[in-house]
Amino acid sequence: MAEPAGDLTDKLMEDVVNLCKRRGFVFPSSEIYGGFRSTYDYGPLGVLMLRNVKDAWWRSMVQMRDDVVGLDAAILSSPKVWAASGHLGAGFADELVDCRSCKERWRADHIGDACPNCGSTDLTAARAFNLMFKTYVGPVEEATNVAYLRPETAQGMFVNFNNVVQTSRKKPPFGIAQTGKSFRNEITPGNFVFRTREFEQMELEFFVPPDEAPKWFEYWCHERLNWYIDLGIPADQLRLRHHDSDELSHYSAGTADIEFRYPWGWGELEGIANRTDFDLKAHSAASGEKLEYYDQASNERYVPYVIEPAAGATRAMMAFLLAAYTSDVVNEEARSLLRLDSRLSPYKVAVLPLSKKDTLTPIARRVLALLQPHVMCDYDETQAIGRRYRRQDEIGTPLCVTVDFDTLEDDAVTIRDRDTLDQVRVPIDSVAAEVRSRL
Ligand code: GAP
Repeated sequence: MAEPAGDLTDKLMEDVVNLCKRRGFVFPSSEIYGGFRSTYDYGPLGVLMLRNVKDAWWRSMVQMRDDVVGLDAAILSSPKVWAASGHLGAGFADELVDCRSCKERWRADHIGDACPNCGSTDLTAARAFNLMFKTYVGPVEEATNVAYLRPETAQGMFVNFNNVVQTSRKKPPFGIAQTGKSFRNEITPGNFVFRTREFEQMELEFFVPPDEAPKWFEYWCHERLNWYIDLGIPADQLRLRHHDSDELSHYSAGTADIEFRYPWGWGELEGIANRTDFDLKAHSAASGEKLEYYDQASNERYVPYVIEPAAGATRAMMAFLLAAYTSDVVNEEARSLLRLDSRLSPYKVAVLPLSKKDTLTPIARRVLALLQPHVMCDYDETQAIGRRYRRQDEIGTPLCVTVDFDTLEDDAVTIRDRDTLDQVRVPIDSVAAEVRSRL
C-alpha cells in the first residue's frame, strides 16, 4: 500500500523529530531492521513525557472530580462488541482503489482518474477496507477464532456500563475514563506520531440524562480546550471546530474537534462527540442485556446519552512538543529549548556537580537522594557546566541544581531556572522544599 512519507519539510517539524530521535523521546520502531511502517518506540525521555501527559489527563478527568471513575478494559474482546458498535460495518472502513498496472493501493478520496504512482487509468472500482486489525485467539486460525484489536478504548466502557454503575453506585451525570492503546490499520499514517497504526488514547464516556446532553457537550468542549491551554499550548494555536453533518461518525449527533495548528496546518487533536444513546442501545439489542439507568427518585428507566471527549495521548505529546520547542540566545550562544510545563517535562530537576572531583560527587549524590523521592531527576557530571545546562534546556528540564566548590563551605546549592535563567542559592537542607514550591 502506498504510504506518503508525511510532510516533514517544515523546519519546526524537522527540528522536533530530530530532537526526539537524538535525545531519546521517540525512535522509529525496529530501526535496526530499517524501521517498520510508521510505528514508533518511546525512549527514556518519551516514556516519561507520555506518562506525564496521561497522568495530567487522569488527574484532571478522574482525580479532581467525584463524578468520574476509571477503567482499564482489555484490548481484545468478543468480536460481537465490534459488530454491535458498527465498527465491523461500512462506518469504519475506507474506500480503496487498486491500480491494476503497478498494483499500488490508494484511498479513493485521495486520487483522481489516474494512479498517482504510474499514471495508469486502469483502476479497480472502490472497495471498502475495514480499519480494524484482525487476529486469531487460540492456536487454530479459523473464522470462529477471529478477534480484533480495539480501534478505540470507548467500547470497553459501554459494555461495562452495568458493572460500573452497580459497583461504583454513580448516577448520571457521571463518567468512565480510560487511557490505553488502540489500533487502526490506517491507509495513510504519517506526519511522525500524528497518525500511526498503534497509538494511545485518553477517552471519557460521560453518561447524562438525554435532555442534558447539549449542556454537557458545551461543558466538555470548554473543559478540554482549557486543559491544553493550562498545560502550556498558546490559545492562538488551538481552536474548536464543529463538524458539518456530512463529516459526522456513524454514532454521532454532533462533534467538535479541538484543533491544533501543526506545522502543516490546522488538524485534529481531540474530538468531542455527542454519541447519543447509540452505543448503549446497540449493545443492549445485540447482547440482550439491558444497559439503562433506573432512577429511583423518579421511578423512571432511561438509556443515558453519552458525551465523549476522546483524545490521543501520543498525538497530544507531539502537540505539546511542537508548542514548547523554541530557541533563543544566551551569552551570545544560540540555545534550543523546550518550554514545557513542568508537569509534562520528563525530568523536573537535573543535579549537576560542577566537576567530577571526588569531593563534590558525594554531596551531589546526597542532593539527588533528597530530591528523588519527590520528583523525577537526572544526574549528569560529564562535560562543561554550560553544555550540561543546554542539554537540560533542550529536553525541557525546568530546574538545574548545581553543586560547586562553595558547597563544601556553605552546604548550599544553586538552583537555575530554565526559562528566566535566574539562579538562587539554597541550603541543601531546604532544597527539596524549594524545588517543590518552584514546580
Ligand atoms: N472513541 C472516539 C474516537 O476514537 P477519534 O476521533 O477516532 O474518536 C480520538 O479518535 C482521538 O484519538 C483523535 O482525536 C486523535 O487524537 C487520536 N487518534 C485517532 N486515530 C489516531 C491515529 N491513527 N494515530 C494517532 N492518534 C489517533
